[in-house]
Amino acid sequence: MVRTIEWVDGKVRMLDQSRLPVDVAYIDCSDYLKVAEGIQKLWIRGAPAIGIATAMGIALAAQDIAAAGYDEFTKKIEPVYAALLATRPTAVNIRWAVDRVRRFLAQHREEGVPRLKQMLVEEGQRVLDEDIRINRAIGEWGAQFIRDGDTVLTHCNAGSLATGGYGTATAPMLVAREQGRRFSVIADETRPVLQGARLTAWELMQEGIPVTLITDNTAGALMKRGEINLAIVGTDRTVLNGDVANKIGTYTVAVLCREHGIPFYVAAPMSSIDFSIPTGDQIPIEERPAEEVTHVFGTCRIAPEGVKVRNLAFDVTPARYVTAIITEKGAFRPDDLKRLSEPGVNIDALRIRL
Ligand code: MRU
Repeated sequence: MVRTIEWVDGKVRMLDQSRLPVDVAYIDCSDYLKVAEGIQKLWIRGAPAIGIATAMGIALAAQDIAAAGYDEFTKKIEPVYAALLATRPTAVNIRWAVDRVRRFLAQHREEGVPRLKQMLVEEGQRVLDEDIRINRAIGEWGAQFIRDGDTVLTHCNAGSLATGGYGTATAPMLVAREQGRRFSVIADETRPVLQGARLTAWELMQEGIPVTLITDNTAGALMKRGEINLAIVGTDRTVLNGDVANKIGTYTVAVLCREHGIPFYVAAPMSSIDFSIPTGDQIPIEERPAEEVTHVFGTCRIAPEGVKVRNLAFDVTPARYVTAIITEKGAFRPDDLKRLSEPGVNIDALRIRL
């Protein structure tokens, strides 16, 4: 399993995903601004992974804070939260991690500052370890949807690289394989940054799962030929009514799936579900630099100089296109998502089982 991020010798070590698959290189971040830069420049990317980077980035910043007590310490940490929150707007996991650290500090306000610093490092590690366990649980609930002989379409990268390990969309694949089923995967290349080609294809090949790479505009043709049985994707933010924000092009895949009667599944850790937003219309959508579209690998121009570009990094798939949302608590119909946050709800009654 590929290690995306680790705390090593007082630094945050991240695999530089912008260089994959050509180079497997790591970057050691010794301050939180470097972590923020890594999130912005996609050295680390994928919603859960940037949540982990946020928790570890805060722990890193905390080590350099000189403060006499809790109030001064938490005041001085505020700009760190702000810098990390400003990096990428769509994935809710950054805010989730900031909120988690805030709550954690509030629960331990009686501790001295040196102890709090150490505890934040441990909390960052806990976020990473929990993420791996959560993804494994997503795999266990989601594996039922992959039958022997199936071909699974996926978009972008929601694999190990996008998480602490195991991946979200890839977890059901890994568990289905453990359960002895044979299947193959089709990876959309995922323009413009090519997470499907560079990352998902690379990762699945390392895992020994048969994978075929296609251009994004090939998916419809293969569905029409009956060559795709189901789609599983990740999410950056899924909201109360079951609308799903994910990598640009996901909406197209979902609509194509509906047209061809193909189930469309979303693997979503609870950390990617934002119960505070009623519908997908309120999700902030990141727009990234034009160069990602006009150039390949930042150096080779493929469009005329000065051309106008729109580079939306994410889109929103309405809940009506989603067959099920697979979380660590089970797989649910998108309409039932809001009930998960209700106190005393019988979760088992809401779970989908095939
Ligand atoms: O821009 P990216 O590469 O961070 O986009 C990633 C995705 O869209 C993933 O599908 C999503 O974050 C889920 S990762 C488990």
